[in-house]
Amino acid sequence: MRINGTRQNLSVEPRVTLLDALRNYLDYTGAKKVCDRATCGSCTVILGGKMVYSCSVLAIEAQGKDITTVEGLSTNGKLAPIQAAFVENDAQQCGFCTPGFVVACKAFLDKHPSPTLADVEKGLGGNLCRCGTYAGVRQAVLAAANTMRGGQKNG
Ligand code: FES
Ligand code: FES
Repeated sequence: MRINGTRQNLSVEPRVTLLDALRNYLDYTGAKKVCDRATCGSCTVILGGKMVYSCSVLAIEAQGKDITTVEGLSTNGKLAPIQAAFVENDAQQCGFCTPGFVVACKAFLDKHPSPTLADVEKGLGGNLCRCGTYAGVRQAVLAAANTMRGGQKNG
């Protein structure tokens, strides 16, 4: 598998999900297992350019495709714009849903560089936060979009 640009070799049973392969076999623990049934989005990763629930993809289906996890978003210790925007907009409380949300936001922004608030609400409908941080998350996405368009702080 190619994870965050690094090739990783592992041998697992065909029934092992991508999420379990990442967390239990390779120590990429950013993606979280919450519902384990494609409902909450806490396990979101980018697979072949598309955001997916990694609890509902088999590891063998991910062979040969680029996988990006939350661990792969920063560069040389510098937070990606969406990560910095989460901090600046207080977009997390307990933080358990946050890695999945951050990856979902990154995938959303890659496809929608100039979103409206309504676009953000709709585009992130697949991720749930039990702490109710939605207002902060939406503001973070709009702020990151602004940063990315203007090339301002955080790159
Ligand atoms: S753990 Fe995968 S969607 Fe909830
Ligand atoms: S910050 Fe607690 S579940 Fe989202």
